[in-house]
Amino acid sequence: MKAILLAGGKGTRLRPLTIHTPKPIVPIFNRPFLHYQIDLLRQVPEVDEIILSLNYQPGRIEEIFGDGSGLGIKIRYVVEPEPLGTAGAVKYAGDSLTESVIVFNGDVLTQIDLAAVLRLHRERQAKATIVLTPVENPTAYGLVETDAGGHVRRFVEKPAADQITTNHINAGIYVLEPGTFDRIPRAVPWSIERSYFPSLIERNEAFVAYVYDGYWIDIGTPDKYTQVHRDIMDGRYVAAPFVDLPPSRAVIDAGARIDAAAVVQGPCFIDEGVVVRAGARVGPYSVIGRQTQIEEDATVESAIVWPNCRISRDATVRDAILGRHCHLGRAVTVDGGAVLGDKTTLTDYTRA
Ligand code: GDD
Ligand code: MG
Repeated sequence: MKAILLAGGKGTRLRPLTIHTPKPIVPIFNRPFLHYQIDLLRQVPEVDEIILSLNYQPGRIEEIFGDGSGLGIKIRYVVEPEPLGTAGAVKYAGDSLTESVIVFNGDVLTQIDLAAVLRLHRERQAKATIVLTPVENPTAYGLVETDAGGHVRRFVEKPAADQITTNHINAGIYVLEPGTFDRIPRAVPWSIERSYFPSLIERNEAFVAYVYDGYWIDIGTPDKYTQVHRDIMDGRYVAAPFVDLPPSRAVIDAGARIDAAAVVQGPCFIDEGVVVRAGARVGPYSVIGRQTQIEEDATVESAIVWPNCRISRDATVRDAILGRHCHLGRAVTVDGGAVLGDKTTLTDYTRA
């Protein structure tokens, strides 16, 4: 059985981070995001191949995952000549499929039991099965209404406030029968949410919901991207490098150099080659990427710093995300949810 990972979006809401790093490979701690999804798919014994459906900066992604041999699963890449939307991408990547296929949005992190979703799909002889999850505010998602028998009756993508009739949304995880791809036009942008799902409902085809209320997050905005790190540090989602650790633990790579007169407060993560100098403080919920230097008396707190940054003396980074190779001058302050793109340079004493 094949799984298609939809990973061709531009990641606009994560800009500027996604200008040089496509969303599927933004780092979560020190691993590109798709690793987490591949790990989940590998747990389903029937899945023998993952098809990565790409469009934006595909080369960067192929370089990282190769043919999958290093990960113990076959990976194939299908690159659209232009973005075909979520349904167009499934058609383009899965046109020759003859058996049920798992489709996954390439930006959701979850611990769902995919084998159980497959079982439901088969028991109900569904044409499509969709995973639903409850959220507080459905407006950023696809709202899904079901009937008492667990069939999908209505799908409203990005509902307005007055269209909210349920807190169940599309979790971006489906099992689909390729026989239903006939309605998706070839080579024109088409949306799974706005066109394919409504068409299943209109034609009264077996479209079944699987409700999941365990851990689920879409990492596609700076807030959610930060949240996912917190969730892993707090043990709400169990994943490396925070497995089997006591609460509030600071995870420090053996190749990091922390001065004896620096302060490190967990939970936090400090990667290989990081230097933290005397008087500096790395506070709770900080993630410091490879080779970053934190100089004397600087403070980093509740912030995600990608590799190769330099945070000069007396600087403060709080509630912020820094892309790669950022250079903050002396006594710079960056806070309040700032997101700095790769190679941002801030001169001494800047407040951003
Ligand atoms: N190959 C390809 N081509 N992939 C695409 C394209 C495309 O043209 N457009 C989007 N994708 C991929 C994105 O990379 C992402 O992994 C996934 O499809 C969903 O796109 P997003 O842009 O992240 O959509 P969203 O988060 O606003 O909404 C979707 O996900 C929600 C759950 O997180 C919808 O499916 C909602 O209904 C759903 O609730
Ligand atoms: Mg998304």
